[in-house]
Amino acid sequence: MGYDVEKVRQDFPLLAGSKPPIYFDNACITLRPRQVIDKVNEYYEEYPACAGRSVHRLSRRVDEEVYKARRLVQRFIHAKKEEEVIFQRNATEAINLVARSFPFRKGDVILVSDKEHNSNLLPWQVVAEKKGLALDVIHSNDDNTFSLDTLKDQLARYGSRVAMVAVGHTANLDGVTVPARDIIKHAHRVGAKVLLDAAQSIPHQAVNARTLDADYLAFSGHKMLGPSGIGVLYGQEKSLQALDVNNVGGETVQDATYERATWEGLPHRFEAGLQHYAGILGLGTAVEYLQRAGLKHVYHHEQLLNQSLHDGLRELPGVSFIGPEDARLRGGITSFNIGGLSGHDVASMLSASKDIMIRSGAHCVHAWFNKHGINGSARASLYLYNTEEEVSSFVEEVKGVARLGKRRRKR
Ligand SMILES: Cc1ncc(COP(=O)(O)O)c(C=O)c1O
Repeated sequence: MGYDVEKVRQDFPLLAGSKPPIYFDNACITLRPRQVIDKVNEYYEEYPACAGRSVHRLSRRVDEEVYKARRLVQRFIHAKKEEEVIFQRNATEAINLVARSFPFRKGDVILVSDKEHNSNLLPWQVVAEKKGLALDVIHSNDDNTFSLDTLKDQLARYGSRVAMVAVGHTANLDGVTVPARDIIKHAHRVGAKVLLDAAQSIPHQAVNARTLDADYLAFSGHKMLGPSGIGVLYGQEKSLQALDVNNVGGETVQDATYERATWEGLPHRFEAGLQHYAGILGLGTAVEYLQRAGLKHVYHHEQLLNQSLHDGLRELPGVSFIGPEDARLRGGITSFNIGGLSGHDVASMLSASKDIMIRSGAHCVHAWFNKHGINGSARASLYLYNTEEEVSSFVEEVKGVARLGKRRRKR
């Protein structure tokens, strides 16, 4: 049976009205289906209690629901054990946890790609500065795809000094997915750990933590139909055990005296204080939703739409793309510029004229834009509820914007 996007759209309250917006800002945050909203409300209405502490009926229900959600996430990413799923506020917090708690030794090297989101660059900059580590950048190929050869050269140069390779699995800048399996294989050969910033991959394509063999994965619920304020740090058990505890307090200890504490096991030692239970439960439901939709269908659907979008824009005067020309390499993301206009100009015009929502600016990848001397871009990012009709309307509208750009360039 084919993918039924109209049926999917019925689940999203914002798309159900007579004049829905065209929402192409999914790399920032996605819309949420009725099922997720209902689950969040269910928590607040039926059992708004804490987990893991009280023994009453409501609390036991929260325990069960949180356990169920953790199992859903575990199965979604094919983690070995549910304890390997640590709930955090978002991908940023998950990456910070690893950066702050990894047992680095002075002189260690951290490698990041040149396209990292600030959330997977700044935590490493800070820890490098604090602990006397070297942070080096893996520069991409000319077409902005990942250069495995450059990584291999760097691994050969630094050898066992490389303690961490932290790369974005799929770039929010241009939608390119890196060859994660190869990166991990080569990094492990020198004894380095690998953190994949999976904020833009896990929502859109099947990711198997076990076969990938990544040490850590970080992702956010709100980029995959889940509630805001909930994210995940996945780690292989031994890689999580290797982390120090930093963020401590309630839930993280088995026992404590005035002098010291004995830490809880996984996952609780990294989940300090009362948690965002509604968010956790909503994330579980989002995962179920994506599983039902089938990530293979979702990925294919986005690729087809992105190809149409690319083909439509390619014809327009003054349009240039960020990343490879081949749209198939860019998943569901198209970053572009129109000569004579800023990304913000483009986004504001689309919003004002046809309620089309895209992102503009540096997309939190300031380092890349600074290096390339480009002043940001406009970015359309697609998801499972977007349609060919929306893409056609978008292209039609950008045509008008491109004409304006042409007039500005002539001035
Ligand atoms: C590739 C990538 N990494 C990390 C993040 C940070 O995600 P969050 O703000 O949800 O922590 C984003 C958000 O846009 C992203 O696109």
